[in-house]
Amino acid sequence: MKNVAVAALIAGSTAVLLAMSGRIASGEDRAGAAMSNPSTTHEFVGTKKCRMCHSKQYASWLKSPHAPSGTPGAWDILKRGASPEKKRRAGLAVDADYTGDERCLGCHAVGFGQPGGYAVPDPEHGRSQRAAAVRRGVGCEACHGPGGGFVQIMRDIRNEQRPYRPEELHSAGLLPVTQVVCASCHSDNAPCATSPSVR
Ligand code: HEC
Ligand code: HEC
Ligand code: HEC
Ligand code: HEC
Repeated sequence: MKNVAVAALIAGSTAVLLAMSGRIASGEDRAGAAMSNPSTTHEFVGTKKCRMCHSKQYASWLKSPHAPSGTPGAWDILKRGASPEKKRRAGLAVDADYTGDERCLGCHAVGFGQPGGYAVPDPEHGRSQRAAAVRRGVGCEACHGPGGGFVQIMRDIRNEQRPYRPEELHSAGLLPVTQVVCASCHSDNAPCATSPSVR
């Protein structure tokens, strides 16, 4: 567990991480359990779905390094020629295209290999391309958990204008975002990890 390093990362990055409110809970056991069994029964639905109701959070996220594109963008850095220095330091090939590389997709896309998660698209099929497009980068569900169960409840909360308890969302797959969630990607085990900054 790299809690100290991750805590430092969180503390030093509130300005960078515009997608976050800065409140990180510490219910690690719960998130840990959820992460170790992430597929439970809920499917990933893609970032576009969340955008429908959370345009403010979406706009902040879009400016964060977790968004697919930008400076540099958690997806675009997998492309040929992107981030040459970091790739060289990590022993990765600068002229390789990593956007289809299974070793990378678990952390640079949403829900890779899980139900409804990112799948390498078939260039012949527009539908699979559109599905992939809204699952690139560190999308909402990479931190908040797969939306297949809780989005329906949120829709109901909005339509009924009713009060709710976060627990009803958590039992439908919404993860409390703890340091364990961050550390599942910000890990020394990442093939792109070159220095303590990656933790
Ligand atoms: C149909 C509208 C709708 C959609 C789609 C939607 N949400 Fe929500 N969400 C809500 C409403 C309503 C609330 C209750 C709080 C509020 O009014 O903002 C909420 C609350 C939340 C909260 C705060 C929960 C808490 O602890 O109180 C998070 C986090 C969240 N949504 C994430 C997501 C993510 C991630 C997605 C996409 C997978 C998503 N939402 C899709 C309407 C929606
Ligand atoms: C275990 C999760 C994980 C895996 C697997 C992973 N990455 Fe990363 N990657 C990260 C994290 C987290 C960062 C951000 C590190 C930081 O800047 O602190 C990152 C950053 C990068 C960067 C640096 C971007 C910059 O800021 O310049 C590149 C390039 C990169 N990854 C490429 C890859 C490639 C290529 C693969 C597959 C061979 C891969 N990653 C696999 C988690 C991962
Ligand atoms: C890198 C992780 C991460 C990503 C990616 C992320 N969030 Fe969050 N989000 C957080 C954290 C941390 C909080 C604050 C603590 C909490 O509420 O669990 C938060 C809080 C929220 C809240 C509660 C209200 C608020 O603003 O505090 C909503 C709604 C929300 N996020 C929606 C989204 C949506 C929509 C996306 C994608 C466009 C997204 N988040 C992407 C980590 C993330
Ligand atoms: C699904 C994997 C994943 C999760 C979960 C995740 N990150 Fe990241 N994070 C990345 C990747 C990949 C990058 C690299 C993006 C880039 O360089 O464009 C990154 C970049 C960052 C950066 C910018 C680093 C730099 O050197 O510029 C910070 C800060 C960060 N993440 C903090 C967090 C925090 C805090 C959490 C938890 C609330 C979190 N991340 C959750 C994958 C993840």
